[in-house]
Amino acid sequence: MNKPEITTDLERAAARLKDGGVVAFPTETVYGLGAVATEREAVEAVFQLKGRPADNPLIVHLSDISWLDQVADDVPEEARHLFAAFAPGPLTLVLKKKMNVPDVVTASLSTVAVRIPDHEVARDLIRLTGKPLVAPSANISGKPSPTTAEHVQYDFAGRDLLIVDGGACRVGVESTVLDLTVSPPVILRPGVITAEDIKEKTGIVVEASETEEARPKSPGQKYRHYSPQATVITVLPDQSFDEVVSTLSVDDLSSIGVFADEETLGSIKTGGLMAYSYGTSSSVDQAAKSLYAAFRYFDEHRVHFILAPLFREEGAGIAYNDRLRRAAHQVRRVLFVCTGNTCRSPMAEGLFNAAAPAGWLASSAGIYAYGGDTAAANAVAVMRRRGIEIGAHRSVPVTWDLLKQQTLIVPLTKEHAAALLDFDPSLKDKVRPLSAFAPDGKDIGDPFGQTIERYEQSAEAIEAAVDVLLAKITSGFFDNTQSDETIDDNEGP
Ligand code: TXA
Ligand code: MG
Repeated sequence: MNKPEITTDLERAAARLKDGGVVAFPTETVYGLGAVATEREAVEAVFQLKGRPADNPLIVHLSDISWLDQVADDVPEEARHLFAAFAPGPLTLVLKKKMNVPDVVTASLSTVAVRIPDHEVARDLIRLTGKPLVAPSANISGKPSPTTAEHVQYDFAGRDLLIVDGGACRVGVESTVLDLTVSPPVILRPGVITAEDIKEKTGIVVEASETEEARPKSPGQKYRHYSPQATVITVLPDQSFDEVVSTLSVDDLSSIGVFADEETLGSIKTGGLMAYSYGTSSSVDQAAKSLYAAFRYFDEHRVHFILAPLFREEGAGIAYNDRLRRAAHQVRRVLFVCTGNTCRSPMAEGLFNAAAPAGWLASSAGIYAYGGDTAAANAVAVMRRRGIEIGAHRSVPVTWDLLKQQTLIVPLTKEHAAALLDFDPSLKDKVRPLSAFAPDGKDIGDPFGQTIERYEQSAEAIEAAVDVLLAKITSGFFDNTQSDETIDDNEGP
């Protein structure tokens, strides 16, 4: 198979673009698949090459702000203000479109997305071409965005494509997309420029659309994105990689890829894992820069699981976590919650994971847990009777990051459920007390400090309810987001 050619000759690349050709080029975020925005056929070729649905519009790239009125109409003051503060840079603005922008670019929307990339090679290429360029990320649809010329070459093997090499991209995740046609403006896709940065630098208050439901305005967000072939498992800030590895119970440890910094990799006790280091010590910027490259590396090496850390929801952590969660979405997580996370919830976690169907993973936490405590000896003992090992368990307190991560949150009692909803009412659709699955409909009492017989009774009650929960999962009950009514209809007596 012939490879697309990699070049650093910008004159040649510009000539090809002017000729109606397609050229991949670097930006500070990811590589783009470029074509002259006003050349309808060239833009169609971009859609065709990527295998991109026609209803997903493209971003128009400019070399500087003076070009803005060539593609946008009625440009609001805010847009000039924002570009003055952040351009060139990873901020895309959705504006009213000018007539001369072909419908194929904007998927027939009346708006156009515009940005000025912070990469010398990109701006020089646009300037030499003399026209605005469309540039979706230069990956085959459904693959991670490319952050090196070699990634683009890999995806488009056998195709006639010229790739301008500009080294590895500095940012590594795609630009922030901000819709300025609504008031207040809304972030349709998070990037490293956050709502907070925007407010700080310009005083403009924008809404960060947190939920999937709020996003379909950016058509691209409805498509499955950024997914490597392996199952991606997120590791929470207070979780250890060793702990997560042990829950996977795989025989071949080299089928697990770990994405982390060198310090963290060095502290992992489990031997034989595949590793991809993003830098010497923990840094969300470095992690964002390397995430897609790591996905590609692990896919090439055919790992089955990729473990990658979540960072705090701030700064670049917002965009990094967003991309990681999208990649990880095929793993659905269940969190069992009790008081101290040393008796009931670790037993529920162990029972669940011992019989969980593929793609489901349980963990546990305590509303009043200290963190770091082992499971009660009696809890460990009654689980061992069942061939389930929870001796390596360490208690974890309930945190907002942890809750956000879950498909389903299963408190051991209705009281715990009420406490969680008190803490965050928006969890309503995710929280189901274990009693909802218990054959007798009862809460699980706390055996803490009591006899092994009491622990055995608790274990049996938890087991019965977890069995019902697992049966519902296996029958596809949680495959789609479910309404309260459907849950109630299926509740135990
Ligand atoms: O960082 C980036 O933005 C990279 C580099 C190459 O510039 N480009 C990129 O393009 O990520 P693409 O096509 O992969 O993603 C563009 C996103 C999609 O989610 C698309 O739906 C959204 O921007 N978009 C484009 N035009 C839009 C419009 N008129 N209204 C709302 N969303 C729009
Ligand atoms: Mg893309």
